[in-house]
Amino acid sequence: MQILDGTLVSAHIKEQIKQEVIDWQAQGGKKPHLAAILVGNNPASEAYVGSKVKSCESLGFDSTLLRFNEDITEAFLISEVNRLNDDEAVDGILVQLPLPRHISPDAVINAISPAKDVDGFHPISQGKMMLGQPTFLPATPYGIMLMLEHYNINIDGLHCVVIGRSNIVGTPMTILLSRNTTPGNATVTLCHSRTKKLKEIVQQADLIVAAIGKPYFVTADMVKKGAIVIDVGINRIDDATKKSGSRLVGDVDFDNVAPLCSYITPVPKGVGPMTICGLMKNTLLAAKQKAQVSVGS
Ligand code: GUN
Repeated sequence: MQILDGTLVSAHIKEQIKQEVIDWQAQGGKKPHLAAILVGNNPASEAYVGSKVKSCESLGFDSTLLRFNEDITEAFLISEVNRLNDDEAVDGILVQLPLPRHISPDAVINAISPAKDVDGFHPISQGKMMLGQPTFLPATPYGIMLMLEHYNINIDGLHCVVIGRSNIVGTPMTILLSRNTTPGNATVTLCHSRTKKLKEIVQQADLIVAAIGKPYFVTADMVKKGAIVIDVGINRIDDATKKSGSRLVGDVDFDNVAPLCSYITPVPKGVGPMTICGLMKNTLLAAKQKAQVSVGS
């Protein structure tokens, strides 16, 4: 069994990005600039946005963090997105999800300019991804593909079972795994809350992507010997032995599943750092594409 080490792989990819930024600036390019919007004070969202901003600093990107109270209106948030769309200094925009219940995430995401959609959530980005056209890929599925690529894991023809059908992980994951690319060319099954015989289907998987958001959902009796297991879950559970009173666990019962696997991602330090790599690669690409457009116009 080999651990797929997100910290190690992301450090390696970040070094490449850092060098690319230096080369880009040496050619007269400007620093990539990511603008992040955080609404409310959900502790998990605060932590995610904090590490995205920190990564920008460490890679030589500019960043702007816009924070708004929980009670802002949808119209105000969209006007802020529009302001960033029009801001020449900004290359990439991300609106951290989830948003408060009174704000439609679709309406806000639809307002982001596709040219600055570094999260890859806009319908144009998702449509292009589905058609195999160049675009910004959603950061977590992109990060998982980068991880498989880094470890040279050949998934050609494998049966991949994705558990969870969210727009930001499960559904785009099925598309990337099945595309005619390397890595890719897998046969994919998407399981969700209405799936019958879920356990029997997961038992057939050569590769499992667990993206359900339920702690320890994937147990050892669901996993075939030699399977590759990618755990996207980040769940906080009570733990009286910790100073904070809680700890992070994935969607997979790691201790019991790991001995069965050929490869497995841990939580934390697995998929999480790879998501940031995906976002940073998208932001650098957005900056470069924007520069090309302004030269061309
Ligand atoms: N919430 C959970 N994951 C993500 C992500 O990748 N991007 C944004 N914007 N919000 C999220």
